[in-house]
Amino acid sequence: MAREVYKCIILLIPGMRIFMPKIKTQYVCKNCGAKSYKWQGKCNLCGEWNTFAEEVIDESKTGERGRKLAKSSENVDPVSLTEIELSDAFRLHTGINEFDRVLGGGIVQGETVMIGGDPGIGKSTLLLQVVDRLSRLSHHQEGKCLYVTGEESAQQIKLRAERLGIRSNNLYIFPETDVMTILAQIEKTRPVLTVIDSIQTLFLSDIASAPGSVSQVRESAARLTYLAKREKLPLFLIGHVTKEGSIAGPMTLEHMVDAVLYFEGDLRRQYRLLRAVKNRFGSTQEIGIFEMREDGLAEVDDASKAFLEDHFTHSSGSVITASLEGSRPLLLEVQALVSPANFGVPQRRCSGIDPNRLALLLAIMEKRLGMAISSQDVFLNVAGGIRVVEPSIDLSAAVAAASSFREVPVAPDILVLGELGLSGEVRAVSQIGPRLAEAARLGFKQAVIPQGNVKAVSLLPDATLEILPVKTLAEAIGILVPR
Ligand code: TYD
Ligand code: MG
Repeated sequence: MAREVYKCIILLIPGMRIFMPKIKTQYVCKNCGAKSYKWQGKCNLCGEWNTFAEEVIDESKTGERGRKLAKSSENVDPVSLTEIELSDAFRLHTGINEFDRVLGGGIVQGETVMIGGDPGIGKSTLLLQVVDRLSRLSHHQEGKCLYVTGEESAQQIKLRAERLGIRSNNLYIFPETDVMTILAQIEKTRPVLTVIDSIQTLFLSDIASAPGSVSQVRESAARLTYLAKREKLPLFLIGHVTKEGSIAGPMTLEHMVDAVLYFEGDLRRQYRLLRAVKNRFGSTQEIGIFEMREDGLAEVDDASKAFLEDHFTHSSGSVITASLEGSRPLLLEVQALVSPANFGVPQRRCSGIDPNRLALLLAIMEKRLGMAISSQDVFLNVAGGIRVVEPSIDLSAAVAAASSFREVPVAPDILVLGELGLSGEVRAVSQIGPRLAEAARLGFKQAVIPQGNVKAVSLLPDATLEILPVKTLAEAIGILVPR
């Protein structure tokens, strides 16, 4: 009897599966796209914590999707390396130099670029200005530009365009979120440039999860990228930045696209920076600097001058340094405020440099110079909302903190350069020539530089600055902020 019951159960289980809907839940890592059938605290693939999100998958559709994809890839024969022509590398110049430079000199045919940034930073404004420029350029007279908007209505785009003074006939606004419709439209119109605003709003009806989910974003981007490559039509994808500061599903998207740009800056200030974190067709060192005005984004030609506009005051805690962004030196003001902590643990706040770097600099000052800074609140800021990753800013940050601590202002026409080592030694910086030349151009009189750079400086053709070489932080502080 018992055996028959078991037999029934064994026969019933496969039978039931036929009637069960093929819908399952899975968990997808928001960072790298790894999948798992149960929730995980830490992703085994990328090692990030708390990145798994639930997604519903409809298995009846996955087979269909596979077939569709297979159908769209036609057979292509391998080509001998010597037979490949480089005409494909022809670049479209938008005429907005700051933008072209970040891309490595213009937009390459069939290139897909992802552009991310905080909401309201100006991504839509920037790309609307770019498509406007392209659609008006004479040699693209035939070519249309397509601006796909999934976030704003056509009227909202029109209002923005009015504000920017854009009236191009060749610019087409397409309010649509269905990827298949967009693909068909791109194939029909063959635009000079297509902009998708934004990738998170798109959806594919053959994927069951909601728009904005990792699977939807990744799959939509994959199909658009595939078309862009095949038809050699450049494509820009606008992406939202998550609370953690990355584009949703970034690792997988970064592999898929040719370039990843970030548009950043301080929302309350007017300056905006365009930075490449990946670029298959150019350097990732270059940055583009813009100013947000009433009538849109304007290029900033003389960035050093713009960033130092509010300087030349004689207050303590302000030091000028030169950072090298790509091929361009940029003069920046580093500001520090050091004041006694009233209660609890002293605060350390900074913007524009890495907080760990600041902690290290303060520890060096405490240990090597005997400055009682551990009982003080320290605030550090790079003026203009710029983020500096180069170590050449170290010495200026330490001198700014010492200047505020001692209440001794640093002379406003002195440039401070150098990386700091753990024993308080000042280390040489790369490419000192362009940095000093930029300072000389803007009327600086003296430069405190690492001893290790002196030889390179003596080889420079026309050094108009008085050079003050230093070996240690103590020496630099002795010169700049004497007691
Ligand atoms: P937007 O391009 O909509 O940002 P994103 O697409 O990155 O979310 O820019 C929005 C901000 O830019 C908004 O706060 C207003 C400001 N802005 C100007 O200052 N001047 C202008 O000419 C335009 C169009 C926008
Ligand atoms: Mg927008």
